[in-house]
Amino acid sequence: MNAQIPRTFQVKSFGCQMNVYDGERMAELLEAEGLDAAADGVDADLVVLNTCHIREKAAEKVYSDIGRLVRRDGPPPMIAVAGCVAQAEGAEIVRRAPGVDIVVGPQAYHNLPELVRKAARGEGALDTDMPLLSKFGALPARRRQGPSAFLTVQEGCDKFCTYCVVPYTRGAEVSRPFAAIVDEAKALIDAGAKEITLLGQNVNAWRDAEGRGLDILIRALDALPGLARIRYTTSHPMDMDESLIRAHAEVGKLMPYLHLPVQSGSDRVLKAMNRSHDAATYLRILGRVRAARPDIAISGDFIVGFPGETEEDFEATLQLVEAVNYAQAFSFKYSPRPGTPAAEMEDQISAELMDERLQRLQALLNAQQLAFNQASVGRRTEILLERPGRKPGQKVGKTPWLQSVHLETEAAIGEIVEVELLSAGPNSLAGAELVKEAA
Ligand code: SAH
Ligand code: SF4
Ligand code: F3S
Repeated sequence: MNAQIPRTFQVKSFGCQMNVYDGERMAELLEAEGLDAAADGVDADLVVLNTCHIREKAAEKVYSDIGRLVRRDGPPPMIAVAGCVAQAEGAEIVRRAPGVDIVVGPQAYHNLPELVRKAARGEGALDTDMPLLSKFGALPARRRQGPSAFLTVQEGCDKFCTYCVVPYTRGAEVSRPFAAIVDEAKALIDAGAKEITLLGQNVNAWRDAEGRGLDILIRALDALPGLARIRYTTSHPMDMDESLIRAHAEVGKLMPYLHLPVQSGSDRVLKAMNRSHDAATYLRILGRVRAARPDIAISGDFIVGFPGETEEDFEATLQLVEAVNYAQAFSFKYSPRPGTPAAEMEDQISAELMDERLQRLQALLNAQQLAFNQASVGRRTEILLERPGRKPGQKVGKTPWLQSVHLETEAAIGEIVEVELLSAGPNSLAGAELVKEAA
């Protein structure tokens, strides 16, 4: 416990990009209250752990982090647990970890300043409400940005895949209003953003009161001067409608990259997962996307070892991966989550079998990713410079296909430079800047 108004803070975000976005908004909120971000390596008076509940390992991590904070030299900080573990476990967190001062859920963090004041008075400070009026209206304006910014447009999920906690931790699907999103995009551009990634748990389910879909929002952003690139994530296959696919053929700033998770290639497993699509439907959708934008990079998420998954089911996943040929992918061992239907299913798969399947799947996905990068060698393309590299003079940027490229350049972070891609590894490429010839 810490009974003093903190002057400095640190926000540590785990989990998905939406948590990164929420973490930035919480930092803006605390700064607007007069707190300062603690300098690197300096202990903060208030530490916000912005947590993830998606798999057991992620959810348990928060307790080791709390332990470390409580034991650190000097007075312990005020500790706030935010994010999806806060929503899922609520007051249980304080029972298990009495060093925690504040528990605040993903839909309530606009109340963080009030909770800090309560905690400083030694009062219990817990808020896991999911109010009807969204938090966004109560947040301060966006501030200085790196070249690539996140913008949440849709939150929550109504799909209830049987393994997943997100519908419980983030609540029902809610779309932010069109004008609020465009205003925030303008503010981000004014603050230095060159690229905006629209975020949602099912971002392509975004729809406003007038019935406009994500494609219309993307076209509105395309018209904003100063913005160079638009991305969106994460999409659900069943919300991948024709107008959004057409946007990939028609909208210049929309980058040729689509993250479209499928989880499994077995129809039997997909059904048990309540995914509402089979493997053939997924492949058909990707066929239409590729017809609209032939060079598009496809990425996905996979779960191995879902309850009852047989060797045959798993091989169907490998076959689907062969059929798609992914540019990038994320794969996970199934983790039973409290309160989800799959956690109660029979035939839970042994840890050994999950390990073996994960290794086989990742070997295939890694080979595809390397092949995708190698096929880019020799290509001339544009790189958005995002950060300094490790060596002096070196910078790291992204291709339109979201590959990281290391190069030597005098150009500043935030600029877009023309490069030729020279060599490729599994996770990044090297490039050389193409110097424009004097006229
Ligand atoms: N809304 C997105 C992402 C949800 S969470 C979607 O529907 O695709 C991100 C990824 O975590 C999921 O795509 C899934 O692959 C993985 N995941 C979710 N629950 C999991 C669990 N219980 N065990 C292992 N992986 C899980
Ligand atoms: Fe979870 Fe499924 Fe919703 Fe994605 S669509 S957030 S995996 S329930
Ligand atoms: Fe994790 Fe919550 Fe995101 S559970 S993946 S932080 S929506």
